[in-house]
Amino acid sequence: MKGVVLAGGTGSRLYPLTKITNKHLLPVFDRPMIYYPIESLVEAGIEDIMIVTGGESAGDFLRLLGNGNQFGLKDLNYTYQEKAGGIAEALGLAEHFVGEDKVVVFLGDNIIEGSIRKAVENFQRQKSGAKILLKEVDTPESYGVPEIAGDKIVRIEEKPLHPKSPFAVIGIYMYDSRVFDIIRTLTPSSRGELEITDVNNAYIEAQEMSYEILEGWWADAGESIEALLRANNLVAQKKALGRQAR
Ligand code: G1P
Repeated sequence: MKGVVLAGGTGSRLYPLTKITNKHLLPVFDRPMIYYPIESLVEAGIEDIMIVTGGESAGDFLRLLGNGNQFGLKDLNYTYQEKAGGIAEALGLAEHFVGEDKVVVFLGDNIIEGSIRKAVENFQRQKSGAKILLKEVDTPESYGVPEIAGDKIVRIEEKPLHPKSPFAVIGIYMYDSRVFDIIRTLTPSSRGELEITDVNNAYIEAQEMSYEILEGWWADAGESIEALLRANNLVAQKKALGRQAR
């Protein structure tokens, strides 16, 4: 199983914090944001990881992360997104790295309290297709929102005005290698991006999508300044609790 951390984009929702650096390098409590998704992948047993980044601060990722020793990795792979063309386009750049393997995609601004280890193990056992993770949220209209019928997701809508469920599709996606064929069929959305929600809907239409509900909190730290502050506070609380328990 391969891991891909997506850390490109312009970070325009966090201006001016992201005017001279990449969003995923901003601090979240005592670490740069991108540390958290890498740690989550490593904790789930994934050791082959590629970082997809872009923009003018791309070199800073190499300076910060090097060969990934601080995460217990032997090495790290990097690739460069020429222009911000969306999550699905960024994932497409990892095709040669993933090869025939399965892949866990982690958005570089998503931080979780708990672990994805079990979900990854379940996906390992799943013959083919995809798996997504859901979390109940107060403002589903800010995210991809699943419409659920019985125990199946029938469709995902990207930032719908009238959400059909209280869940967000969080930025951790598991795919088989056919994801790259699906990406090639996509056309840009109204925001000019290749949308990961279109990828997920293709798997849903093929009846090849499973899902799990994430336990513990989830933060999309790059969504807004308020979300970044919330992520800082959640991580600080988690670390304080960890210290008390020791
Ligand atoms: C993206 C996805 C959205 C998902 C969210 C999770 O949104 O398009 O479906 O719920 O990540 O972080 P974006 O951050 O690109 O607006």
